[in-house]
Amino acid sequence: MNQFKSIPGTFDILPDGHTSGGDFIAPTRIWIHLEEVVRKVMARYGAAEIRTPILEPTQLIARGIGAQTDIVSKEMFAFERGSTNYVMRPEGTAPVMRAYLQHNLAQKGGTQRLYYSGPFFRAERPQKGRYRQFHQFGIEIIGSEDARADAESIACLRDIVVGLGITEYTLKINSLGDAESRPRFKEALVKYLNPFVDDLSDVSKNRLSTNPLRILDTKNEREREILKDAPLLTDFIDDESKIHFELVKDYLTAVGISYVEDPHLVRGLDYYSRTAFELESPALGAQSSLAGGGRYDLLSKEVGSKQIVPAVGFAAGFERMIMAMYASGVSEAAAARPDVFIVALGDAALSWTFTAAQKMRTEGLNVSYDLKGRSMKAQMREANRQDARFVAIVGDDELDAGTVMLKNMSDSNQKSVLLTDLSSEVSD
Ligand code: HAM
Repeated sequence: MNQFKSIPGTFDILPDGHTSGGDFIAPTRIWIHLEEVVRKVMARYGAAEIRTPILEPTQLIARGIGAQTDIVSKEMFAFERGSTNYVMRPEGTAPVMRAYLQHNLAQKGGTQRLYYSGPFFRAERPQKGRYRQFHQFGIEIIGSEDARADAESIACLRDIVVGLGITEYTLKINSLGDAESRPRFKEALVKYLNPFVDDLSDVSKNRLSTNPLRILDTKNEREREILKDAPLLTDFIDDESKIHFELVKDYLTAVGISYVEDPHLVRGLDYYSRTAFELESPALGAQSSLAGGGRYDLLSKEVGSKQIVPAVGFAAGFERMIMAMYASGVSEAAAARPDVFIVALGDAALSWTFTAAQKMRTEGLNVSYDLKGRSMKAQMREANRQDARFVAIVGDDELDAGTVMLKNMSDSNQKSVLLTDLSSEVSD
């Protein structure tokens, strides 16, 4: 039988990192570091964590994101069981809104700032920075149409990016206007593009009838050329949305967040209105989007609410954030290294190691040792591999004398210390 392998587009996260399908998958500690920065910054914004199921009703996603979008039309891992249709969540916004409505979180009053972090699933063609199981963190600020909420979600994203040490990124913003602005613009865009139909790629030809706004995202040179003179969404948006957008920009400027206005930015999900934004990194190549988000005041009604629940938020990809971290030269996050690695020689020392390690662990120290009873050289190699701060060497003689030989791995200094002093010697 062939050995089983992880499915293409999915990957294991290993303590030392590894290469999978040509991509470097960072060591677990980098992922943990990222999660910790996210938690810390989210707390500063008064956001509380929400955890929703991986499985959601397919209709929630189809209605929420839009039937014509790439995600719903071709990227859902969806299946039927009995009379229920399940989808493995491709994103977090519709599920968080579902939970908000289901549990009547509005009743708690005020604005809910909810954040999340976890795996998401899209049946995309796997390539660098694009996976079938990927990981996102994000915030959803629900219950406010205030422009400060839009600016705050962007500021929160910026703080996380800066907190991770990512130095190169561009924030692109746009306003999509209200519910009526887009159909008006769509009509004008289709009218403009129709005479060029023969010059469009097959994908764009298809989109002309299904989802014309997506053509604005094209990377095709000829199509970009054609789009240069296309009508701009900016000219179709309503006055209130314009004022709202000016406010968002003022708030961003007030806290020193620079941005580029991109009139072609429409985002690939249908639920947006007014503010839309994307954070791009030059380090990522074709998949340049580190994070994306915007306002989605109309989503609540699409997923069954009688009232409009204004909301705004963003989601960012862990994998792409990590790629950008490496590109910015941030390669090391504090690893949970052993404070002490015990090298034991002889039977008495081997069994002493077990009880001594347990005692030090209850005192809050990270302790490791070799479980195979190997040679001193092999044990030292293992201590190095685990990047231990200290190595405590114990044999029969040391046990008789009630001491250990303690080696500081940063400067290789060695000294004999009393067993009773070991914990305090290796404590920070
Ligand atoms: P999205 O633009 O579809 O937005 O995804 C956000 C981020 O998730 C992307 O910028 C990218 O970093 C990452 N991502 C998406 N798909 C993949 C993939 N196949 N492989 C690796 N990374 C990926 C949303 O999901 C919205 N829910 C964002 C939002 C929140 N809008 C309002 N609130």
